[in-house]
Amino acid sequence: MTRAPFAMTGGRVLRDGREVLRGIDLTVEAGDMMAVLGPNGAGKSTLIKAMLGLIPLSEGRTEIYGTPPGRFRDWHRIGYVPQRLPMGGGVPATVREVVASGRVARQSRWRPATSADRAAVDRAIEALGLTDRARDTAQLLSGGQQQRVLIARALAGEPDTLVMDEPTAGVDVASQAALADTLRDLAGAGRTVVMVAHDLGPMESLIGRAVTLEYGRIVRDDPSLTVTGKAS
Ligand SMILES: Nc1ncnc2c1ncn2[C@@H]1O[C@H](COP(=O)(O)OP(=O)(O)O)[C@@H](O)[C@H]1O
Ligand SMILES: [Mg+2]
Repeated sequence: MTRAPFAMTGGRVLRDGREVLRGIDLTVEAGDMMAVLGPNGAGKSTLIKAMLGLIPLSEGRTEIYGTPPGRFRDWHRIGYVPQRLPMGGGVPATVREVVASGRVARQSRWRPATSADRAAVDRAIEALGLTDRARDTAQLLSGGQQQRVLIARALAGEPDTLVMDEPTAGVDVASQAALADTLRDLAGAGRTVVMVAHDLGPMESLIGRAVTLEYGRIVRDDPSLTVTGKAS
């Protein structure tokens, strides 16, 4: 049994009866700073959702820290920022409230928020350069700032592994820089990062490993990224 953050063997995924991933053998090692590259429709989002157990495999198996997703309980160890998570509608929430919601996996009815929880929320807000915005309504921020809020929310839970699906798509330069700083901090702390990206941009020098998907298969796995870092 492996204790790697993610380990998939022979992974196959069908959607609407169509094969969108096949023959996936992928182990994400602790401390990996990994990019998942590839053209639109290649299966990148499907791959990370399957690794997280959000989509079932039709063949093969996958484990999170050595445990199949259905039996995994330590969800506080995993942070996930989905692709284009809609934040609009509903009751307006401040930036701080949204970020604090990322702490719930560490809290419980029996253990309400502590000063340690509040400090973790403050650190996540600070790390993404949102301190000045903490009291603002999250829904009214720009797209790039909202993406930073979602990353801060994932970081507030102090995950060992952070999974992000296209966090840089369409975000402004300041938000890209904030994300690059965050990745540098996570790398320094020995955390694991899996990031789907179309174009690594300023993140390229921070990425240590790039896996490329095409038509639902892994076509390259560069253990140290010396290529251009661009998806096709
Ligand atoms: N909810 C869904 N139902 C059916 N097919 C889907 C669904 N989501 C994605 N697909 C299909 O799966 C394939 C891979 O999609 P996706 O994983 O989103 O690719 P990527 O993230 O690389 O752009 C595409 O052909 C897409 O049309
Ligand atoms: Mg996608």
